[in-house]
Parts: sequence; C-alpha cells; structure tokens
Amino acid sequence: MSTTEQVEQAHQPAALAAITLAAGLGTRMRSARAKVLHELAGAPMIISSLAPLVAMGANPVIVVVGHQAAQVEAVVRNAFENAASLRFALQAEQRGTGHAALCALDALPAEFHGDVLITYGDMPRLHAATVTSLLRAHRDSGGALSFISVELAEPGAYGRVVRDRAGHVAAIVEAKDASPAEREICEINTGVYAASADFLRGALGAIGSNNAQGEYYLTDLVAIARHRGLPVEAFKAAQISEFAGINSREELAQVDAEIRMAINRKLMAAGVTLIDPATAYIGEQVEIGADSVIGPNVQILGRSRIGSAVRIEGTAWLRDVVIGDRCHLKIGVRAEECRIGEDCELGPFANLREGTELEGHNRIGNFVETKKARVGRGTKASHLSYLGDATIGRDTNIGCGVITVNYDGYDKHRTVIGDRCMVGCDTQLIAPVKVGDDCYIASGTTVLREVPDGSLAMSHHPQREKPGWTAAWHQRHQAGEKSAGVKPAGAKPAGAKPAGAKPNGGSQS
Ligand code: UD1
Ligand code: CA
Repeated sequence: MSTTEQVEQAHQPAALAAITLAAGLGTRMRSARAKVLHELAGAPMIISSLAPLVAMGANPVIVVVGHQAAQVEAVVRNAFENAASLRFALQAEQRGTGHAALCALDALPAEFHGDVLITYGDMPRLHAATVTSLLRAHRDSGGALSFISVELAEPGAYGRVVRDRAGHVAAIVEAKDASPAEREICEINTGVYAASADFLRGALGAIGSNNAQGEYYLTDLVAIARHRGLPVEAFKAAQISEFAGINSREELAQVDAEIRMAINRKLMAAGVTLIDPATAYIGEQVEIGADSVIGPNVQILGRSRIGSAVRIEGTAWLRDVVIGDRCHLKIGVRAEECRIGEDCELGPFANLREGTELEGHNRIGNFVETKKARVGRGTKASHLSYLGDATIGRDTNIGCGVITVNYDGYDKHRTVIGDRCMVGCDTQLIAPVKVGDDCYIASGTTVLREVPDGSLAMSHHPQREKPGWTAAWHQRHQAGEKSAGVKPAGAKPAGAKPAGAKPNGGSQS
C-alpha cells in the first residue's frame, strides 16, 4: 500500500498537518453505511484516501468523522496500525465540508503554524507524489491557499473554478449553485487543497451557508481569501482519474474496476498469469510470486501472500492467507487466515477456516473443512472430513468421513493425532482425545480415549451373517403382493422387483 511508498520529504522543511473529511453519510450512495466505509478492491475507501497523507508524514493527520464515527475510526486505526500522527475530530451534525474542516481545527495544536493539506475521504486514487507536488508548488507560490484543478469535457457535479478577467482564480462555485454560464466552465475543483494553518484559523469561521444546499462549503475559502487580498492558486492536473470523488454506487463500481485493472496490470508485469483479468479480484496489499497462474473468478483479499508457481484453477475466495510455492488449488477453494506450506494440493471444494496451518506437501481434498488445525508435512485428508481444533502429525492419512468431535455445547476441545497414522474412514474422535504415533484406527471407530503409540484401535460391533436371508425377504414380499388384493404395508408396486432380480443390498448407485 502507498503508506510504505517512499515519498520525497527533503523539500518539506516547514511543519505539515493534514485534514481528511469523512463525516458524511453519502446520500447519493443510498446506504445505511457511511460512504467512506464502502469498499474498493476489498478495503474501505477511507484507507486509500488517507494513505497519501500518512505516507507524506503529515502530523497530525486529522480525520473528521460523523456517520458511524466509531467504525470509521476503528477501520482507520487498524489499517495504519495506530499511527501516532492520527487524530479524530467529531462533526456531530453534517453541515457541509466547510463546517467539517472547522471541526478539525480543534485537533490542530495552537502552536502549529505550518501548512495544512485538506482532502476528502472519497478520493481513493490520490497519490502521495501528486499531493507532494501540490505542497511544493503551494510553498513556492507563497499564497494562502492552493488547490488542484482539472479541465473536464463533462464537468458534471464538480465545483467550477471561476477566474477573473486577469485569469486569476476568483471563486469555486458548486454545480448546484452555478449560473448556466458558470456551468459551462470546464475547469473543476478536484478537492485537494494546501493552505497555511493561520489562514484556515482566520477564514473557516467566516464561511456562510447561503447557497442552494444550505451548507457551509469549504470551497468558499477561495472567495474569502481573494476578498482579503490573499493570493489563491489552482494547479492544473492532466487527468481526473486520480481525483475521482466517489458519490454513487455506479462510480464505486467504475473506480473499483479501474483499481482492479491497475493491480492486475502490475501483477501481470511481475510475471503472474491471469487467465481472465476481468474476473480476477485481487486486493492492493496482496503479493503473488512469479509464474503463478490465477484462473477465472478468483478473489484474493486482505494481506494474502501467494508464492511462486502456484496454480489456482478458478472460483476461489481467499483472505489473509499465506500460500507456499507450487501449491495447486483446484476449483472451489475458500480459505481465510491460513498458512499453507509449499507443494500442497487443495480442493476441489475445500473450506480452510481461520487458524489452519499446513506444513507442506499436504492434500486437503473435496468437502474437507479445517479450522484451527495444525497439520504436519505430507499428511492428507482427501475426502469429506471435519478437522477442527486438531493437531495432526506428519505423513498421516485421514480417511474419508473422519470427524473431530470438538464441541460439547459449551467448550471446544482439541484432538491430537501423531505421525504416520492411518485414521480409517468414518472415524469420530471425541475430543479432548489423543492418538499416538504409528496408530491404525479401524474404520467406523468412535475414539473415546487415548490410543497409545503403535496401536490399533477399533470399536466394531461384531458382524453376523444370515445365509439366504435376502432371497427369503423378497419371497415373502412377492407372495404378499400376489395374494388376493391384500398387500402387506409398505409393499412395492407389482413389477418393481422382477422375480430372480438381484437385490442391490442398499448400496449407493
Ligand atoms: C466536493 C466539493 C466540490 C468538488 C468535489 C470533488 C464542496 C462544497 N464541494 O463536492 O467543489 O468538486 O468535492 O470531489 O466541498 N463531508 C463531511 N461533512 C459534511 C459534508 C461532507 O465530512 O458535512 C465529507 C464527506 O464524507 C466526503 C467529503 O466531505 O468524504 C466530500 O463531500 P461530498 O458531499 O462528497 O462533496 P461533493 O459534493 O462531491
Ligand atoms: Ca464527493
């Protein structure tokens, strides 16, 4: 992520603070969730919106929160590992961006007289290098206020940059307040500002709310500065893509697709094959080694690290996983908070839940669920098992249908299985329980107590045979059907079982 980007700070002698506005609900999203919590490439948009400011070393970085303030604060603290520069200011009532910035002033130390960057929490594509250029230009200009503008053929809902006859910036007029002539202006306000702290202290309180929305507009700072005879500069950027503010679900989807394609291009350039980039949903923080092949419809999220020459066939959902080199994920793997060693074979249709640790050379096959399971090198569970709260040694084979019975209705208990064991099909291990090394568990066994090293455990009911029973059974029924009109209860319709047909004995077909 861009927090770790190397950002040039050599030309920033003066102190730098930053304010990001993130208190709004985002009415145009039509959501109960605060806009800045909506996700892009698997992460709330406030994270990438803030990242450039944190990366630039601004201190404090003040986040103005309001709607779902506690959640927004938690998401930010978690993403930036509680960076010491973070401050949170509450805007209890959303009265506009100017009012939000005013709320932030309380969190700015009185003795701070440096420059303040102001951005919006809905600009997730902003780069630190761009903001650094604005800051340098602002400092070189010596003005009170600077911002980034862009020329757009279709300026839409953005604020228009109004210039005077001499070509100097005179005001920003919101689209809703613009006259027809102003609406024709193609130069728009991106919403990235640099200002001196002293100017902000004197000007934010002077903003009024006499406009179409009855809100306090941050953008009014421009006209206020000019009225006071202070210079304002708009620095033109070439493209809008980096400054796109997200206001609707449609814009969210568009920007999400752009971010994903940028991530995918980077991965492909680094030697990763994406069979269908349009359906590869890979988070910004994900790392994937060279010569790995990602099939269609794959989501890799969070802080996942995928090794080299890994093959993911398709339709997988992976979050916060570490997957070793040369692993092969067959179709339909879901894995979360797992560490998978090298050369493992997973799926098809495997569910690896949190705390699964495979040492390497393992197979977790179809319809196997694992949770908090530590599995030694070379051990296999190929079909239809639940392995929860288990520690399993090396080179052990878990047969089809093995279940660790870990939950007694109150607590979860651990199952421990040693090295080189053969755990037979349909075994249930009633935890807490331990199976030693080199054990054989006969199929169908219910393991209730410790099995010592090298033992065979079994809990079979003795098998009995009744020779000729099947034929007698059919005879009885067929005789009943033929007898005048009276059918024994549950009898099959005539012809269902022709005489002499082999009974199938109830086995699966
Ligand atoms: C704003 C600018 C507009 C610019 C555009 C760029 C104003 C008045 N207008 O418009 O000139 O072209 O961004 O994308 O600033 N927020 C608060 N508290 C509030 C209101 C908003 O914290 O009371 C936050 C929101 O959470 C959001 C940000 O401020 O993250 C911007 O608000 P938004 O309503 O999206 O502004 P725009 O109408 O897009
Ligand atoms: Ca916006």
